[in-house]
Amino acid sequence: MTKDIKIAPSVLSADFSKMGEEVKRVDEAGAEFIHLDVMDGVFVPNITFGIKMVKDIRKVTDKVLDCHLMIVHPEKYVESFAKAGADYITVHYEACKDNLADVLNQIKALGVKCGLVVNPDTPVECVKDCISLCDMVLVMSVFPGFGGQRFIAEVLDKCKAIRRIIDENGYNCIIEIDGGINAETSKLAKEAGCDVLVAGSAVFGASDVKAAIDGLR
Ligand code: DX5
Ligand code: ZN
Repeated sequence: MTKDIKIAPSVLSADFSKMGEEVKRVDEAGAEFIHLDVMDGVFVPNITFGIKMVKDIRKVTDKVLDCHLMIVHPEKYVESFAKAGADYITVHYEACKDNLADVLNQIKALGVKCGLVVNPDTPVECVKDCISLCDMVLVMSVFPGFGGQRFIAEVLDKCKAIRRIIDENGYNCIIEIDGGINAETSKLAKEAGCDVLVAGSAVFGASDVKAAIDGLR
């Protein structure tokens, strides 16, 4: 039996001047998650949007709002993102190495699913002890900051290792992959055990959004 793969279009590649319509377009095309890339210009060399955008997107869709926080000191903001309507809040290992477990527990205590993100050059050893706390592990297949980058295939072994840890321990945790996902790389990600595929340019850059989503799935 093939497992259910969920597609998470990243609005980073949407037209920000018509965000509501863009979100509705991928919602109606069958996306299960809406991936929201929050960047602060400090943790990553780019700035996108924040809490107000999440709150306003919440008004136009019932799909899972998947907030990927590429920010320093996420503990200062997770409560606001939870109140804005986030369903998942994912924080980078690299942004909170010293208080990771605390931040994950803080997110859970807010009644929101918590996720841990790992950059391409962060080995699985750094995060394996925290997987039991997570509802999701997000494996970056590009260095965060920009859409439209090339998929780094070396992260597939990390996906497989995380899959093994989750399955062997019976953890209730899904694996998401983000960056450079297209019709070809999506196959590799699925084979490596990923459950949720984030795609920005492959979805919003397509003339037929539904065909693009179906193709990834
Ligand atoms: C990169 C973001 C991604 C990005 C993916 O920092 O986390 O979510 O939007 O874009 P594509 O699918 O174009 O690589
Ligand atoms: Zn992302």
